[in-house]
Amino acid sequence: MRLSRAFIRAVSSPATVAWRSAQSRIFCSSPSDYRKSQPSMLKHLTSKIKATGPVSVAEYMREVLTNPVTGYYVRNNMLGPDGDFITSPEISQVFGELLGVWIISEWMAAGRPKQLQLVELGPGNGSLAADVLRVFGQLQSVLGGASVSLHLMEVSPALSDFQAQTLTGGGSQKADCEEDPVYRHGTTAAGLPVSWYRCLEDVPAGFSIFVAHEFFDSLPVHKFQRTEKGWREVLVDVDPEDSGKLRFVVSPGPTLASATLVQANERRDHIEVCAEGGVIIQQLARRILNDGGAVLIMDYGHDGTKTDTFRGFKDHQLHDVLLSPGSADLTADVDFSFLRRMAGGGVACLGPVTQGLFLKNMGIDTRMQVLLRNCHDPSTRKQLINSYDMLTNPTKMGERFLFFSLLHPSRLAAPTKPHGLKLEKRSPVLLPVAGFTDLSFS
Ligand SMILES: C[S@@+](CC[C@H](N)C(=O)[O-])C[C@H]1O[C@@H](n2cnc3c(N)ncnc32)[C@H](O)[C@@H]1O
Repeated sequence: MRLSRAFIRAVSSPATVAWRSAQSRIFCSSPSDYRKSQPSMLKHLTSKIKATGPVSVAEYMREVLTNPVTGYYVRNNMLGPDGDFITSPEISQVFGELLGVWIISEWMAAGRPKQLQLVELGPGNGSLAADVLRVFGQLQSVLGGASVSLHLMEVSPALSDFQAQTLTGGGSQKADCEEDPVYRHGTTAAGLPVSWYRCLEDVPAGFSIFVAHEFFDSLPVHKFQRTEKGWREVLVDVDPEDSGKLRFVVSPGPTLASATLVQANERRDHIEVCAEGGVIIQQLARRILNDGGAVLIMDYGHDGTKTDTFRGFKDHQLHDVLLSPGSADLTADVDFSFLRRMAGGGVACLGPVTQGLFLKNMGIDTRMQVLLRNCHDPSTRKQLINSYDMLTNPTKMGERFLFFSLLHPSRLAAPTKPHGLKLEKRSPVLLPVAGFTDLSFS
């Protein structure tokens, strides 16, 4: 299936369906908290729904998270202990450092191209990029004369301020013209150019390593429910008994999204499809095929097995997704089987593997031993051990987070013919790739 932005706009607005006659309630949030915060976002959504009918969950999510004025990401820095959630790069710098090593190893495997663009999608407050660039600085002799540049795709002006502070120490300029595809640019202390973009189309062509940590899970998902009449889309409506409340309803008839995004052989009873993630993965696959490079996606997710994963986070606690829209993060697990399907056959897809396994394959145990050997302060030692446990323990982030990669087909090799044996026709195999393969004995 070929997805496009125009298609996404079309499937996001199910208002053409005669929806009011047969709404069925799925669940409703507790009424008391509804009007406590974000009245402008709630008002905006209720007026919109009253005017044009229930909106898809994807449209609801897009408005709540990235509305240019009141969107959750656009207004807040929600990361860290004082925010709503904490992510791996914020837990330990070792996470970004090992990623830096992965990036350099893929750049080397590609034949050390003269130009290396590091592109991060949804960089949060810039910690991951800063840790990766520190490794680039330390491995200057390996990177040699490569011209390195950093490209950040970020929808939130508020977060771009934090990124600029982290990465350029405030030495960045905003573009004069709103329409400029590079809306901000600066230089790191080490002299590397940094540019900010709103969308992937604006990032210049060239050999690139793309990284996306907890980015795909924040993209809007459509939700579909199997019913006796076939697949129906789940929509967000105003509660007829309380106009200050939102509720889920099931569309009485098919929508464009339910007719096009549900696979004929789907076996689950409820699914979530991230069409926007599909568009982005297709763009990434095309760029890798054309210009070379790799993509590393790190997120919580599943391989086409889970059903209802849409949830909210506020103050590090689960939060009702329909309650006080705009005051909490909204997220849905990434369906890696969908991303693999959308990437198409041209690129090689690797994983998903668990974060614990990826970090161990990248040598986190050895790195920790070195850090602990050189650290004599008891509280810092405790912090190091706790962060290692948080990142790798299967009951914490070790198994919930998954790593998935798109690689250029040149990373595939024909299977070697065992001496004296007739080789039957087999598909090419992937050469060992750091993180995904245990390279410790090779
Ligand atoms: C959950 S945060 C993750 C931040 C960071 N990668 C980390 O792991 O700490 C999601 C990030 O993606 C950005 N984002 C969300 N939707 C986006 C979109 N459609 N285009 C560009 N950036 C987006 C947010 O502003 C934020 O920086």
